[in-house]
Amino acid sequence: MSKIFASLKSIGAYAPKNILSNKDLEKMVETTDEWIVQRTGIKERRLALENELTSDIGLKAAKLAIERAGVSTGEIDAVICATLTPDFLCMPATACIIASKLGIKNVLAFDVSAACSGFVYILYLAKSLIESGVHKNILLIGAEKLSSVVDYTDRSTCILFGDGGGAAVIGSTKYENEAIMDIRISADGDYAHLLSAPRSRVTHPKDNKTLEYLQMAGNEVFKVAVKTLTNDVVEILQKNGITADKIDHFIPHQANLRIIEAVREKLNFPHEKTVLTVQKYGNTSAASIPMAMNDAYEEGRIKHGDLILLDTFGGGFTWGSALLRFGGQ
Ligand code: UT7
Repeated sequence: MSKIFASLKSIGAYAPKNILSNKDLEKMVETTDEWIVQRTGIKERRLALENELTSDIGLKAAKLAIERAGVSTGEIDAVICATLTPDFLCMPATACIIASKLGIKNVLAFDVSAACSGFVYILYLAKSLIESGVHKNILLIGAEKLSSVVDYTDRSTCILFGDGGGAAVIGSTKYENEAIMDIRISADGDYAHLLSAPRSRVTHPKDNKTLEYLQMAGNEVFKVAVKTLTNDVVEILQKNGITADKIDHFIPHQANLRIIEAVREKLNFPHEKTVLTVQKYGNTSAASIPMAMNDAYEEGRIKHGDLILLDTFGGGFTWGSALLRFGGQ
């Protein structure tokens, strides 16, 4: 029997229409457009409407991904959502809500909490579930309403984050030239205190103020991020016997242009092969990689069979990288 591979069959994304520019932020906290652009590369980010939930954002991205995959909702046999801003803190999972809005019933549906690495984490799960032969078409969603956990009086964090969603359909294939080749994921909870959002009643039982804000020791996170992201890419390329010049598209997590540039330069990736969306969306955590991939796809840059390298890092700490050949059309 021929081997079953997992393939990323389609990509879709949704960015809320409302733009929060650096100039807007200048009126809210003590900052300047110049400082933000110089330190982060971010010019603007999107904000969801008050009544627009993570599931609404994820749903729009999911509909596009399903349509582009050319599958019906009845063919989807699992829905997995990566988010750190679920509609409900504990249950039901945002994946269940999105599945219901899509009319998908009686299938595996759950959320994964792995912060900015969420999409690579769920890609890893989907790859395993498809290769096991049990699942055929898995809907993956990375969606965030980060504006709901950002403190807009804290200039060190509010300039960074935005709302948005990305989605992909992972299907089975017998063709290796459109397969997800390898994924490495990892975590180290010793760094949990450097990036968190928000605390819950479990850790603070007597505190009714459960909805606290995202907190980050930015500079410390920055240093670990550059080192980890670089090492991760070196390892996945070496393990698969692939040199950097063979990569068609490098799609890193979009947290800070300086981090992306540091990794890109160390690995010698040409600028034109690196996908950048941080300037217009900021950091959208679990949505960042699929949103960036969708942008490159819609610009006509990504073609069937192209070799793509993903690299991500986030709270936990969690991190991961993936090598895949684009299976969409
Ligand atoms: O997605 C998960 C992974 N997340 C990341 O990878 C984010 C990692 N961190 C970063 O992107 C950067 O550390 C930041 C953009 C958050 C900060 O840049 P930095 O170069 O590390 O600055 P810093 O935190 O060392 O702060 C330098 C100075 C400080 O002032 P003093 O103490 O030197 O007087 C800050 O108070 O910049 C000040 N500062 C600001 N000034 C103007 C911090 N935020 C701002 C601001 N506007 N918005």
